[in-house]
Amino acid sequence: MAKMWAGRTDGATEQIADDFNSSIHFDSRMYRQDITGSMAHAAMLAAKNIITNEDADQLIAGLEGILNDLDSGALEFDMTCEDIHMFVEQVLTQRLGDVGKKLHTARSRNDQVALDIRMYLRAEIDEITGLVTELVKAVTDKAETYKAAIMPGYTHLQRAQPITFGHHLMAYAMMLLRDLQRLADCRKRMNLSPIGCCALAGTTYDTDRYFEAERLGFDGICLNSLDGVSDRDFCAELMSAIAVLMMHLSRFSEEIILWSSWEFKFVELSDAYTTGSSIMPQKKNPDMAELVRGKTGRVYGDLMALLTTLKGLPLAYNKDMQEDKEAVFDAVDTVKMCLKVFTGMVATMTANTANMKLAAQRGFINATDLADYLVKKDMPFRSAYKISGSLVALCIRENTVLEQLPLDTYKTYSDLFEEDLYEAIDLVACVEKRISVGGPSVSQVEKQIQYVKEVIA
Ligand code: ARG
Repeated sequence: MAKMWAGRTDGATEQIADDFNSSIHFDSRMYRQDITGSMAHAAMLAAKNIITNEDADQLIAGLEGILNDLDSGALEFDMTCEDIHMFVEQVLTQRLGDVGKKLHTARSRNDQVALDIRMYLRAEIDEITGLVTELVKAVTDKAETYKAAIMPGYTHLQRAQPITFGHHLMAYAMMLLRDLQRLADCRKRMNLSPIGCCALAGTTYDTDRYFEAERLGFDGICLNSLDGVSDRDFCAELMSAIAVLMMHLSRFSEEIILWSSWEFKFVELSDAYTTGSSIMPQKKNPDMAELVRGKTGRVYGDLMALLTTLKGLPLAYNKDMQEDKEAVFDAVDTVKMCLKVFTGMVATMTANTANMKLAAQRGFINATDLADYLVKKDMPFRSAYKISGSLVALCIRENTVLEQLPLDTYKTYSDLFEEDLYEAIDLVACVEKRISVGGPSVSQVEKQIQYVKEVIA
């Protein structure tokens, strides 16, 4: 087929080469950014007297018509076009004649595509930010509900010390706040305009790059024209931020999967977010959480694909860079889908607080508190630790718990033990006494909830 760039070559390209080269089936999603970018370009060309005002008006009206027709479905993408940029220019020229051919003055597809991706991803960051904020709210609401629900806190997946479910959930809220910061930080560096860098070496026309940047909502411009067209750091940065976010969702998923098992029975997922088995009638599977965990690997892969594509590229534009889009679009689509499902799953999840309490009662998670009891009576911590450990070993031998051992037995280990030791190792008291900042006591968890609410407000 005849190419808009025919001139240097006039031999027709093979169909298979066209298909291989074409990106319209994945870059057509940037049509809005491509068209609004072109409108700003036409306006700048007129403002700088590079084209007439009449030509610019025609171009802008023509572009607006294409945008409306694509929005309404009156115009369909021509999948034989090489990419979205060629498609828009082709329709514009069909509709306007020679005036349409003036649009590409002082511009290249190299700066055009860089502009489109930045604008497209900027909007995606805003959407992802909204979705993460929704999730933070859902997590924080759950934490509020369960701020007094005692559960064992774990290290090495072994019962360690008493916390509350609310405290545990707020750990995820803090992780998600960092994800929001990473997204905002990435957006700052992304929001610089590459348009006007042209193919690589700028232009001899007296253009105004700031005019276009300002019209398109950028905070500034890329200050080196080679860098402007070669830079895909903003894609890699966004994908890194998304990869970390997915890692957080994956860890949370893993816990939800464990907690839903019969072995734990700490949480019950809503039927709306679980599936059954085709053979085992009793099953209620946490598929949504498993899929989020699974898709995390896929998003890591997207990041690696882009980094690997970029690593050996000489400046400036190389066609390899067309591979950026499928990877970054996949990462963005995947994280958005995961966030939506995850938020619904968390919002409808209920905790089995009785089972959590039961688990907290088995596992000697108040052994540190027992040692602290002796320390408060002036015993050095290491000695107190030894005695507490010996008492745990005794309980295990006799199949009992620290709360059930008689005071007489305690006294054979240390004279310092008195009746008030039972109060000191009571689970509720153990949590409530953990008043250090960031800790699990209800008052500290309330402060964490308050802080998170203020940050996302
Ligand atoms: N479809 C191309 C891409 O996505 C647009 C830029 C093409 N530039 C070029 N000189 N061939 O990267």
